[in-house]
Amino acid sequence: MNIDWNNLKQEAITAMKKAYVPYSMFPVGAAALTDDGRIVSGCNIENASYGVTLCAECSLVSDLFRTGPGKLVAFYCVDKHENILMPCGRCRQLLFEHSAPGMLLETVSGIKTIEEVLPDAFGPRELNERS
Ligand code: THU
Repeated sequence: MNIDWNNLKQEAITAMKKAYVPYSMFPVGAAALTDDGRIVSGCNIENASYGVTLCAECSLVSDLFRTGPGKLVAFYCVDKHENILMPCGRCRQLLFEHSAPGMLLETVSGIKTIEEVLPDAFGPRELNERS
């Protein structure tokens, strides 16, 4: 599948501009291409109870399910300077669950797979194989 990285970046920037970040002032936007060709996106949504904050990736996964089923094949995340941002550890796990095998991410050190940024991951397969 052809991946338009520039379009993904623009969608991530658009999402970033909707972020609700009164506490950190650190807006984040994420966008992804799905295996059926959709673009899904999300922004971070903070909370007065700080730990309740939703990362941009959480919003993106919500958008994935809201707009239909599917798996993520390519992912892009930006900060307020429109620079590439790496998903936090929790969000790498979140993305892994909904990724197609070999999902690509634009990272600070080039395009990588989800398996490279979350090596030896624990996922649905482990639950199936070991239970
Ligand atoms: N944040 C994200 O939205 N995604 C990440 O992967 C890293 C962190 C948000 C959470 C919080 O609203 C702000 O960035 C500062 O941590």
